[in-house]
Amino acid sequence: MNQLTMDDAPTRSLATKGGMRASVLVCDDEELIRWSVSEHLRGEGYNVMTAKNGQECVDMATQQVPDAILLDLKMPVLDGMSALRKMRESGIQTPVIVITAHGAVDSAIEATRLGAVAYLTKPFDLREVSLKLEQVIDTDRLATEVRYLREKQRASYGTIIGESPAMQAVFETMRKLEGIETPTVLVHGESGSGKELVAQAIHANGPRKDEPFVEIDCASLTETLIESELFGHERGAFTDARTLKRGLFEVAHRGTIFLDEIGEMSLSTQAKFLRAIENRRFKRVGGVVDLPLEAGIVAATNRDLASEVEKGRFRQDLYYRLAVIPITLPPLRQRAGDVALLAVHFLDHFRRRIAGRLEGISPAALEALTRYSWPGNVRELKNVLERVVTLYRDEPQIELAHLPAEVRFAGRSEATSPAAPFILPEGGVVLDEVEKSLLVQALDRVKQNQTRAAKLLGITRYALRYRMEKFGLK
Ligand SMILES: Nc1ncnc2c1ncn2[C@@H]1O[C@H](COP(=O)(O)OP(=O)(O)OP(=O)(O)O)[C@@H](O)[C@H]1O
Ligand SMILES: [Mg+2]
Repeated sequence: MNQLTMDDAPTRSLATKGGMRASVLVCDDEELIRWSVSEHLRGEGYNVMTAKNGQECVDMATQQVPDAILLDLKMPVLDGMSALRKMRESGIQTPVIVITAHGAVDSAIEATRLGAVAYLTKPFDLREVSLKLEQVIDTDRLATEVRYLREKQRASYGTIIGESPAMQAVFETMRKLEGIETPTVLVHGESGSGKELVAQAIHANGPRKDEPFVEIDCASLTETLIESELFGHERGAFTDARTLKRGLFEVAHRGTIFLDEIGEMSLSTQAKFLRAIENRRFKRVGGVVDLPLEAGIVAATNRDLASEVEKGRFRQDLYYRLAVIPITLPPLRQRAGDVALLAVHFLDHFRRRIAGRLEGISPAALEALTRYSWPGNVRELKNVLERVVTLYRDEPQIELAHLPAEVRFAGRSEATSPAAPFILPEGGVVLDEVEKSLLVQALDRVKQNQTRAAKLLGITRYALRYRMEKFGLK
């Protein structure tokens, strides 16, 4: 896994267009050409590097990552075509303009097949060089930007982040709901999986986003209170009802009502609620007048309502009525692919509030985050990131050692996750696992410096290397 940082957005810009200067690698074996082209491009504001053969070109392209490469095809040591092939094979996608001899159309075509984006024929005009270069960098920058935006759009819906197939399916359903005036939706998912976020997003992207979004937590209210909250009550409807009270159905007006923990609603309230959403009418408690129910309904639960129906704890007709549009949020452990994305998202989020140096997450830390089972789902991940960003804001990146113990020891069996690392737990340990984990942590802490890692572990560098090989750690 590569280090992930938040600044993945393209930052390149043209030499001629303010901001960061674009960089060009000029590769030609003829000193005169190298010199004149470089001087010309420097004059235009480019950052110029030079290479005098194919091998140098490959090396510099790997280390410096220029924005574009001007590549002569005929060179000693490693010719341009081979250099191009080598770069593409090792994943370097920098746009390349090849320089061919007059009349060498075949090699220009061959180079295009290998991914060159333009070519210049010798002898060329220096103005032609800048023109081509500008076009090529511009196109590449645009392509990068489009790719980035497309990625970003695909991996989120409003404030909901996720690129796993499961979340993509959720987003697809939500997009279909966008035009619906009064949707009835049932959101199911474990605690912390994002049910409330989904409810809010359905409202925020619907045609009635400017109307109220009101929520009621069915778990925290008694039966009488739920009814008077939902339907309101007339003055004198019951002992404490000294004044008329409008219920949330009225308050929501043409907006959205979010019924959280609907599984906790009593059977008799369920009956009244079903009647209201079926007839789209309701009465205040103690009232006689029918009022219209104009709001959309989003209900959420972490229970399996189908099995609640079987056990007689939830009305089947209400279940069917609500489940017209079901949205299921799988637990985070079943969408491990989203963990890194969410972690970086939360890092960015908290970094805005908590000033510091943190730039990214180390590969080892990211791996541990991905391996952990997240019983508290996204909420737990968010809390972990808030804690880490607060405590380690002055570090350059989040390291494995910064993570809470339960996350660090994730994926190991119970026996090998000791609360205090050096006390042998009751059930024993798998020594190899412990050793490997310590090795990884030590290397991680000193940024893979083997001498320092060996020192941390009290062994020689030779012993460290032996163990790294034994555990397949490169
Ligand atoms: N996919 C996601 N992208 C970004 N943030 C998320 C995502 N899922 C959840 N969150 C955040 O995680 C936290 C918990 O989410 P939420 O309150 O929606 O969970 P819930 O399913 O309603 O939990 P509970 O059942 O405990 O009420 C919130 O801060 C929410 O913003
Ligand atoms: Mg909730």
